[in-house]
Amino acid sequence: MKPRGLSPAETVKFYDAWGARQDGAGYYEDETLAELARFADFERATAVVEFGCGTGSFAENLLANRLPSEATYWGCDVSETMIRLSQERLSRFGARVRVWQSAGEAALPLAAGCADRFVSNYVLDILSEGEIRAVIGEAARVLTPGGLLCLTGLTHGKGVVSKIWTAFWNLRFDLNPKWVGGCRPVALLEFLGAWEVLHHTVVVARGISSEVLVARKR
Ligand SMILES: C[S@@+](CC[C@H](N)C(=O)[O-])C[C@H]1O[C@@H](n2cnc3c(N)ncnc32)[C@H](O)[C@@H]1O
Repeated sequence: MKPRGLSPAETVKFYDAWGARQDGAGYYEDETLAELARFADFERATAVVEFGCGTGSFAENLLANRLPSEATYWGCDVSETMIRLSQERLSRFGARVRVWQSAGEAALPLAAGCADRFVSNYVLDILSEGEIRAVIGEAARVLTPGGLLCLTGLTHGKGVVSKIWTAFWNLRFDLNPKWVGGCRPVALLEFLGAWEVLHHTVVVARGISSEVLVARKR
């Protein structure tokens, strides 16, 4: 696995400046996130935690279309811009939603066992191996027994077109990780030894391969 491309400070600077343009990643994220939603049983969730909520677009879709009306959402992000965008976007859901600006740490100010879904979309592919392990460890603490870890992120190419795309993506990452928002292909399944994997697939959208993982806390 390639080491982290952007330092934590560079990551904050990048996403503070990038802001709402993140929604433009829908051309490859939308299909992946729809696949995640199909397998994460959000319709029966009571409390969702999201690590790296970005503009709040996934949360908005969950709250408007999938979660039971009494279910709550708690999201964090390291970028002040992203937190502001999420707050604006999610304010209509009132007290069901809380959004918190972190300093990038894995440890969250949440009680153990307070959530039954822990989501992170296209964030772990920015982090170092140690940080990914720390976030997944925090998910295990925050989730109730039987709770679901719901992850997506860039992964290695599947099929000829996607392998060529991955090589091109890697080249851009190597030349200047800012060109790809610090994201590089990662195989998240390798980090889930202690979890019961319920769903694992690679979605290829516009040539870009993304991993979708739903795993149960044992
Ligand atoms: C590629 S964007 C994905 C945003 C959103 N999840 C989506 O799918 O559109 C990565 C997001 O992760 C956030 N991020 C990066 N490192 C983080 C960290 N250590 N803790 C929390 N958020 C982080 C960034 O600020 C950015 O909003």
